[in-house]
Parts: sequence; C-alpha cells; structure tokens
Amino acid sequence: MVTQRAIKPVHESEEEGEKLKELVSKLSEEKKILLLSGKDFWRTQPLPELNVGSLKTTDGPNGARGEFFTDGTPAALFPCGISLAATWNVDLLHQVGSTLAKEAKAKQAQVLLAPTVCLHRSPLGGRNFESFSEDPILTGKLAAAYINGLQGEGVAATIKHFVANEQETLRMQINSVIEERALRELYLKPFEIAIRDADPWALMSSYNLINGLHADMNPFTLRKVLREEWKYKGAVISDWGGTNSTVESVKAGCDLEMPGPAKLRGKALKAALDRGDVTIHDIDESVERILRLLQRTGRFEASVDEPGEKTLDTSETKQLIRKAGVEGITLLKNENGTLPLGPEIKKVALIGPNVKRAVAGGGGSASLKPYYNTTPYDSITAVSGREILFAQGAQIDKWLPLASNICKTSSGQPGAVLEFFKGDKFGDSPLIVQTRAKTDLFLWDSAPVEVLPAYSFKVKTTVVPETTGEHQFGFQSVGPGRLFVNGQLLIDNWNWTEAGEAMFEASVEVVASIHLNAGVPIEILVESTNETRPVGKAGAATHGYGGCRIGYRESPVVDLIQEAVEIASQADAAIVIVGLDAEWESEGYDRQNMDLPKDGSQDRLVSAVAKANKRTIVVNQSGSPVTMPWVSEVPAILQAWYQGQEAGNALADILFGNENPSGKLPVTFPKRLEDNPAYHNWPGENKKVVYGEGIFIGYKHYERLALDVLFPFGHGLSYTQFHYGEVGISGPVLSDSNTLTVSVPVTNNGKVSGQEIVQLYIRDIKARLPRPEKELQGFSKLSLSPGETGIANIVIDLYSVGYYDTSIPGWIAEAGGFEAIIGSSSDDIRGAVLFRIEESFNWTF
Ligand code: BGC
Repeated sequence: MVTQRAIKPVHESEEEGEKLKELVSKLSEEKKILLLSGKDFWRTQPLPELNVGSLKTTDGPNGARGEFFTDGTPAALFPCGISLAATWNVDLLHQVGSTLAKEAKAKQAQVLLAPTVCLHRSPLGGRNFESFSEDPILTGKLAAAYINGLQGEGVAATIKHFVANEQETLRMQINSVIEERALRELYLKPFEIAIRDADPWALMSSYNLINGLHADMNPFTLRKVLREEWKYKGAVISDWGGTNSTVESVKAGCDLEMPGPAKLRGKALKAALDRGDVTIHDIDESVERILRLLQRTGRFEASVDEPGEKTLDTSETKQLIRKAGVEGITLLKNENGTLPLGPEIKKVALIGPNVKRAVAGGGGSASLKPYYNTTPYDSITAVSGREILFAQGAQIDKWLPLASNICKTSSGQPGAVLEFFKGDKFGDSPLIVQTRAKTDLFLWDSAPVEVLPAYSFKVKTTVVPETTGEHQFGFQSVGPGRLFVNGQLLIDNWNWTEAGEAMFEASVEVVASIHLNAGVPIEILVESTNETRPVGKAGAATHGYGGCRIGYRESPVVDLIQEAVEIASQADAAIVIVGLDAEWESEGYDRQNMDLPKDGSQDRLVSAVAKANKRTIVVNQSGSPVTMPWVSEVPAILQAWYQGQEAGNALADILFGNENPSGKLPVTFPKRLEDNPAYHNWPGENKKVVYGEGIFIGYKHYERLALDVLFPFGHGLSYTQFHYGEVGISGPVLSDSNTLTVSVPVTNNGKVSGQEIVQLYIRDIKARLPRPEKELQGFSKLSLSPGETGIANIVIDLYSVGYYDTSIPGWIAEAGGFEAIIGSSSDDIRGAVLFRIEESFNWTF
C-alpha cells in the first residue's frame, strides 16, 4: 500500500488562489507570453496596467550582490555555503536568511537566487564551496532554515540548481546519468526537505541534462516529481541561459526564461501557440505561478521600482557574520593543546600567501563586492597584541595578479578607463566611457544596453613599475582581443582557439614578458569586441557578452620559502595560512586536482616551516577538501573555509581563544583524490557523466569500503572536552503515525564554555536492498558552560528510516530492527539504541 502523506499546503488561502486565477483570465495572450521571460538580465516583465511591478532577482547564496556581476554596489559578504554548513546551526542559518532578506531589499530585489543545495559528489566540484555538504539531510535542514529566515521577511528564495548539477565541467551540455534511487535518496532530497519544511517560493532549474533531457524541459523531475508528487506551486526559473527549448520547457513547467529579453520564448512561443504545439492552458499554468511569486513578494501593491541600490552596513550584520564565521571554523587537529595561543606566545610568525589577502569567498555568481574586508594579518595584529613577523612564503596565483592592483587611469584613479563603441569595428569616438576599479572586466551583465548587441571596447590605463626587470603581462579575452604596451602590440589574442576557465567563455591566459624600468610609466591599451570566439564554434551566435582580464606581475627576486623559514625560527609560534581562492574554486570550472596550488609550493612551505618551528599551526582556507601531505608534521590544523567580510576577525578570535571552535566537517576529507566516490566517473566523457557510485557518496562510500580518511565527516575539535552519557529513546516502535525522540546527556568536562554538535545516524540492520552502513538523520547543537550537562533530543520519523524502492515504486520503511547511533563525528561513536518497525509501510512524499 502506498500512503499519500498529508502535504503541507502552500501558504495561500482559497481566496488568494481564486484571485490569481481571475487575474490570469484577465490577461491578454500577448501579456501572458511576455510574462514567461525576463525583461532584462535580472528583472521580470511588469504589468503596469494592473499595478503589478517587475521582480528583481539577485545572486546569490552568501550575499545579495545586486545589479552587477563585478564591481557592483557593496553588499554584506557572509561565509560561503560550506562554512555555514560547518556550523550545523539551524537557528543561525535562519538568522542569516533573514539578514539576507534585508540585504536583498537594500538592493531593491525581491528574489534571492539562493540557496545552492547541490551535493558534494567529488571534492573537485567548482561550486562545492557555495553549497552545503555531501549529506542530503544536513543540506536539506540547513536550506530549510535559511529559506524560512529569508521568506519570513518577504524575500523569495530560489533554491538551486534542480537537479544533478554536481560539476561545472561542460555544465551546459553534460548529461548526468543517475539511477532513480540515487536521484531520490541523494540529489532530490535537499529540495524535497526544503519544500516540505520551508516551501521556497522559487526554484532554479539547472544547466545540465538529467538522464538525457535538459533540466528545464525534463518532465520526470519537473512534472512528475516536483509538481505531481510534491505538489509544488512555486515558480520554476531557468538558470541564466539554461532554457533549452520553446515547447518542451513550457510543457515541463519551467515558468520563466532568464535572463531576458526572450530568446526561446516571446515570438517563438507565440508561434508555437498558434501551431498548437503548446496550449493556452500550458501557458496559464506558468503565468499563475509567476503571478503567485509576484503576489508573495508584495509586487501586486508596488508597480514602481524604487530607484537605486543602497548599502546597509550595520553593526548587527557585522556581528552576525563574525559569529557565523567563528562557528564555521573547524579545528581538525590540536595536539598538546597547541591552540589557543596563550600569553607565553609573545612573537608570532604569520606566513603564507593568504595572510595579507582577503580570501573571503569563491568565484562566480556567489561573489560580490563586500562592504569591507578583513585580512588575517590585520585582524591578528589587532586582536592578538603580540609581535608579528610576516613572510609570504609561496606564490599561488592561478593567473597573474590583476593589473588593477597597481594601475591607474590618466586622471590618477585606481583601475582603468573603459570606452564602449557601438558595432564591433570601433569608431571615431566612444558612445560610453566608464571607469572600472578592476581589470577583470567580465561584461556579462554590464555592457551598456546602448551599445548592444554588437560592440567593441578599449581599455586604457597606466602602470608605473615598482622594480626594474623582465615583467609579465597576462591577457585573456572572451571575444577577440589585443594588448598594447606603449603603442606596441605585446599580446595578440584576436583569433584565439584555446578556451580557458575565466569569465565562463574566455580564452586561456596568454602571458608575455617585457623589460620595464622602475618608476617609468607605461601606457596599456586593450582593444576587444564581443564577437564570439573561437571562430566557427558550433552553435554559437555571432556576438556574445564580451570581456577581458589583464594581469601584471613584476619578476620576483627573493626565495620565498627561505624568508619564511627565517622568521619561523625566530618566533614562539608560526601560523601558516594556506589554501585556495576565488580563482582556484569557482563557478564555471572544476578543480583539476585536490592539492594545494601551485605546483606543491604551499606543501613545501608548510613542511619547511614545521621543521623550523615546533609550534606550527596550519590554517587552510578552501571551500572543499585539500590533500595534506604534511598532516603529521604539524601539531594543529584549522579549516577556515571562506568566511566573507569578517574572515580575518573570526580567525583571530579562534587562534587566541577569545572564542572556542565548534565547527564540524560537512564533508569527508579523503586522504587521496583517488579514494573519492566519483573518481572513476569524473567528469565524464563525451558529454555524459555516469553517477556510477549510486547512493554511496561521501562518508557512505568511505565507510562501505572501510577506507581510511584524512578527516571524517562530522569531525571537529573544541578547546574543551565533552562527555556523552547513556543514549535513550522515547519508545521501541516507530510507525507512520508516531515519531521517536533519541536523547543523550552531554557534559562539558573542560575549563571553557563550548558548543558540541551531537549527530544521530540510523542503521538499518537488515534491508531487502543494499543500504549505507549508516545515514545522518538528525543533529543537535548544545551550548555548555564548564561542568554543565545538557540533553540533546533528536526526533526521528518515517523519513529517517525510509529508502526508495523503484519496484514499488515509492519510499518504504521496512519492518525490522534499526539502530539509532549517536556520534561526536561519523567516526567517533558514543552510544546507540535499538528500535523497530512492526509493519512495513510506503509513501510518496
Ligand atoms: C548560475 C546561477 C546564478 C545565475 C545568475 C548562473 O550562471 O549558475 O547560480 O544564479 O548564473 O547569475
């Protein structure tokens, strides 16, 4: 028997529902079609005659960026998704959501394109940093809290990317081939939980194909699962440029083509309607859902957009970001109480490429221009009150550092002047002239509409070299491009053929050297257009979005490791801050390996410093696991993720014991890349990636293979110790109509206050189909003073025991015995109790 569970109704009265239907019936066919695609890059079409405004959307998960992809209005930059997940703190995620709503409103936006809930299938996923975890339950529960916080303040969430979008390689064309059971139990699960617990008002379809059909036109995922089984009434928005058909995508229920103006809808949809390929009923369904989104976000009452984006840099937001940062930092290793650094440590060597840089977030649509940054160097200097020595230690730039670190316009402003010409042949005088602060000129959404669709541009700036030597320029362009130095052509990238990774569709970086003299200004000129490259690229339009990136580096003369070793040997403790950054970890591409970049330089640095100073602490900033060949050479390791604008302060708080770390890993850190579950099937071949590991990703894979890992899922230490008492359960039998509560007392046995994340895993003792050793089904975070005992109460229900059986088809809780296992990590088990299910039962949602 398949039981249809009661589904939490959409928060809409019958009356409101009727009103929507009535409104749909009032709209002309033309208006309805107009509503199904965007007005511009970020907005939907308004309906001024009905007093209905347009919706403004904004990225993204760790901040509300506003109108422009690069260099926009400053906004609050929160810790990235995986760092938030490492807090395992649903209340905090709720608060983050409600603060993001205020930030979105300041940017005049009603729809936040977040959260990202794709799972970490491989450690190499380019967007792992912005999504939460390898575990669907942790991901789903955190996403629900975030969405409730956001929508509680009237801003729509757009949970993304639906579905099976776990890699960036060939993301527009890759076909994710997945067995239905794995799709249901893993990749659909966070969406299912969020829809049940938080009802996100919008959902974004992904770029990829799922089992042969693009996500925006996939009747299985969009119609059957989302609409029929889950009764989802929210709006489905295509990822930007991810609408792949006119008829099939409307029929599958992808409501809104973004960005606008219409490419596959508009006239094409009208023609399809006239031909009878889509019906007015298909269109009406989508129109109703878009109107619902407008209604929920208050756009029925506000037809006029408030002009301009604002900043809201409040002290409450600062404090929240710092707290979130502190709670995300995960203490991986701490031998002999190396941390926190006590008063006996008077002189500290701060070493590493990330010490004086703000490595605050990953790259792509999750990035934004923060209100401010805090670097480890500044924060540690301010918080510690110790003598600080510094050495950079390693060079890790993926591409040459931006020329804008040093270049100025002719009027002395930092950055470069950008001249836009209408048409792709330049012209006598530019139509629009702008000054841009940075020389990563990604023009996806920011080329002036006046010059579209075909334009050319020049970039002009001046560099004054600080040293004399053979200096390097790096140049990448989306369209054809050339770079001149003092009027001489240095880099000709006009007819490039080799695609790189920057700016979604740019060339590889071309590097050229030139002899320059200290203090003698040189003029840089770039000429480029938005014609598409490489020439003859199959299916490409003749003109795209355009853009270029200019890098510059003066030739280094010092031995960076030797410098680091020298200061490490003079100090009482050495803190080595290593990691990745927004260029190594970004939307648009995946990492090539799991090692710290570049070419082993950071690994050599850690080993050399560890030899010079016994008290070496490694801080790793990354949004996914890295290999640590030096793990046994250092006594302490902190995983610091990307923590947004308060990154430096949060780190300093932990290092010097002003705060006690409580983060736990939302992903397993494997020992070797080769150990990871997706290793044999990554990133696929011939545009197809087979999710061959099925339901066994993350710890479920490592446990099944009994593989030793570097650090297990759920691991994280504290400056205090927690003692777990006996595990109890509220009853022996779970059914489809009751829940059980698993309880465990936990005592803080140490000398400082701390927080402990208690984890509950369920093991199905005997099942008809293979199941993981155990699965996380709940968690509870306790805050305890020294000597205090608290009780973690974790509720389990049918969802905690079910698995998906395609032969039913449906979810099943099978009669038999189960174990409720309590752990301080997936690998540190503190107790267990048994319970059972008397009679099997099934359900669909
Ligand atoms: C990303 C989305 C993002 C959108 C708008 C796409 O490339 O995949 O996550 O929301 O762009 O920036």
